[in-house]
Amino acid sequence: MKEIDLRELNLNPFTLFGNDWLVLTAGDERTGCNAMTVSWGHLGCLWSHNRPTAVVYVRQSRYTKELIDKSDLFTLSLIDDRNALGYLGSHSGRDENKFQNAGIKPLFTDGTTAIEGAKLVFVCKKLYKAPISPENFIDTAIPAKDYANGDYHDMYIAEIIKAYE
Ligand SMILES: Cc1cc2nc3c(=O)[nH]c(=O)nc-3n(C[C@H](O)[C@H](O)[C@H](O)COP(=O)(O)O)c2cc1C
Repeated sequence: MKEIDLRELNLNPFTLFGNDWLVLTAGDERTGCNAMTVSWGHLGCLWSHNRPTAVVYVRQSRYTKELIDKSDLFTLSLIDDRNALGYLGSHSGRDENKFQNAGIKPLFTDGTTAIEGAKLVFVCKKLYKAPISPENFIDTAIPAKDYANGDYHDMYIAEIIKAYE
């Protein structure tokens, strides 16, 4: 993996999240790690010095969320393996070793975990966390549709402190 300058990246955040999907990985070699597929998120600049940031939305029920909450860092990895993405997005690390069963390998880097062979990796440092709350919706059709079971997301705004290709 080669470290790259974020300003030189040529990507479309809409297709990156919405079509390609990303693997959100949290934890480390010592304490354990887990990965899940995400397709809801944002990339942009926030706060002084235009910090490069990623925003991800993780439902309360996700095992990966427990690892995100225990750590300062997580990563977002872009991988080509659609089967692995499907697997990571439909099985829980609470019950099994998802890396093994999805046929991918964890890559321990920068004190956190990414995915070996990823085309792009963002190392993210958590800055801000807030729950998505039903009372804050202006378009009330959204909670009725996307949170009918009450499994709300926590939103994490994180600084992208390193990027690799
Ligand atoms: C294409 C796709 C996108 C997903 N995007 C998200 C997301 O943005 N946020 C989320 O909380 N779950 C998302 N999921 C669901 C989690 O990946 C899934 O529940 C996973 O099994 C959680 O694993 P874990 O319990 O090991 O953390 C997505 C699943 C798929 C297939």
